Amino acid sequence: MKVRLFKPSLGNEELENIRDSFEKSWIGLGPKVGEFESKWSSFIGCAASLAVNSATAALHLSLTAFGFEPGKKVLVPNMTFASTAFAPLYNGLRPVLVDVDPESVSISMEDLEKKYTPDCVAVMPVHFGGHPAPMEEIVDFSASRKMKVIEDCAHVAGADYRGKRLGTWGDIGCFSFEEKKAMTTGDGGMMCSDDIDLVDRMRPCRWVGIDKDTWKRNAAYTDAAQLDIRHWYYEISALGYKYNMNDLCAAIGLAQLKKLERMNRRRSVIVARYMAGIRDLECMSPMMPYDPQSNFYWIFGVRCPKRDSLIRFLKVREIATGVHYMPLDLHPFFKEFGGDCPNSHDIWQSFVTLPLHADLTDEEVDYVIEALRDYERNG
Ligand SMILES: Cc1ncc(COP(=O)(O)O)c(C=O)c1O
Repeated sequence: MKVRLFKPSLGNEELENIRDSFEKSWIGLGPKVGEFESKWSSFIGCAASLAVNSATAALHLSLTAFGFEPGKKVLVPNMTFASTAFAPLYNGLRPVLVDVDPESVSISMEDLEKKYTPDCVAVMPVHFGGHPAPMEEIVDFSASRKMKVIEDCAHVAGADYRGKRLGTWGDIGCFSFEEKKAMTTGDGGMMCSDDIDLVDRMRPCRWVGIDKDTWKRNAAYTDAAQLDIRHWYYEISALGYKYNMNDLCAAIGLAQLKKLERMNRRRSVIVARYMAGIRDLECMSPMMPYDPQSNFYWIFGVRCPKRDSLIRFLKVREIATGVHYMPLDLHPFFKEFGGDCPNSHDIWQSFVTLPLHADLTDEEVDYVIEALRDYERNG
């Protein structure tokens, strides 16, 4: 039995929505993107959303929105994907890599205080694997230092933390719809905020600086009743990027959004099954303090001191594994932004990510659990 690590959960609903875009012959930035944005805002409970082609783009534009003076610093956890730390660099800012809590793998409040200097302008907490970062503390800490908070929600969509949706705690929340994530559009992302002006300011930046949506202007091109011959006119008033989501992706996203709660709940059931299945094992422990009753997880992993032998043992049984993540400051590019992150350097070496996706069957989960138990006996 080959068991995949991640897998998008796709079906006829997505195909039907794509068919509709085909029939309308509009597959670029169009009405479905607008519909997805407004449905996403209602779902997350924010005032405005901007659909882009990745969370990487959303994170980039989020920092651009505040117009920080180049050279200022942004606090970023050391255990994350490169995109979180690239966002400050795209904006001429400097990432400061902050250590993580050794248990939760969330940004460490202790190290945040240590690494903070008055030239820090923002902090970018990551809800690692779906586990919520301590948002109350982060928001308080940042407010008292006049720092903005940009939540990197690439690993979570639709979860609440202390009664408030993740992605609405900070000034901006950024989501990923890359193919492996909690829900997908193939590739895609969303930037959300309660500040409508801020989101509107960034709208041209995702569309090469153009201040009007082409699909809205398009109707006027052939409208004989409109005598405005300047229907073609637009202005560029901002540095723009080709970051827009397109209608094909939004068509998939609209179908996925309807299924998200079910997919999230299915992943919680799987996490609970894994937890029960490995509870008594001595050679490994859960990667973080999983609480599948309260949180929705994107990563289920274990800590196993003999990581390589476990990965090999599972590979022979055709069970896919991964490692999330090697700390950023161990990558050559990020070395200069790190330093003094002993927890992340220590814990990541035992991390093994196990298969988790909404289509994983109980039979597959039990097959993985049996392999883990077999490893304890014979590995
Ligand atoms: C924590 C984190 N932030 C940002 C991203 C970037 O997401 P995207 O692929 O949508 O750009 C990822 C991707 O895996 C991620 O894990």
